[in-house]
Amino acid sequence: MERTLILLKPDCVQRRLMGRVIGRFEEKGLNVIAMKMLQVAPDLAKQHYAEHVEKPFYPGLEAFITGSPIVAMVIEGLEAIRVVRDMLGATNGLNAAAGTIRGDFSSSRQMNLVHASDGAESAAREVSLYFADDEICSYEPTLTPHMRAGDEG
Ligand code: CMP
Repeated sequence: MERTLILLKPDCVQRRLMGRVIGRFEEKGLNVIAMKMLQVAPDLAKQHYAEHVEKPFYPGLEAFITGSPIVAMVIEGLEAIRVVRDMLGATNGLNAAAGTIRGDFSSSRQMNLVHASDGAESAAREVSLYFADDEICSYEPTLTPHMRAGDEG
């Protein structure tokens, strides 16, 4: 099982797309094991986007991500990090394949609706930025026997 950090960004919240995006993850069979709404402070934005802080687009990215509330979630599932990124599609909504979340709902590079961790190391780092261990509620869904065979993990 893998865990990945998902942010429903301000554009997702403002456009009332939270339910549809969460629904896509649920329908896929992924488990939401932590969730909270918050307004990102500039310090947290700098920690989250540490690799982008020096880039020319960072000031705009920080203004956007701190501008109105987001929803942070931890999602758990088999190969969840790759599966979720495949579901999101390319970073720029204009390039994201139809059928992906960004391909269906975004026409922007910055306002691409959802952030997801890009690897195991960043997932561990990002989950701990937003959630304490006791805020994560891992559980075995009763649906599991109907979602995959026992030898699939
Ligand atoms: P995200 O997956 O949250 O990770 C970094 C974010 O920076 C990315 O989504 C985009 O929203 C944003 N981003 C990446 N490249 C650019 C760019 N060239 N100009 C503006 N924003 C960008």
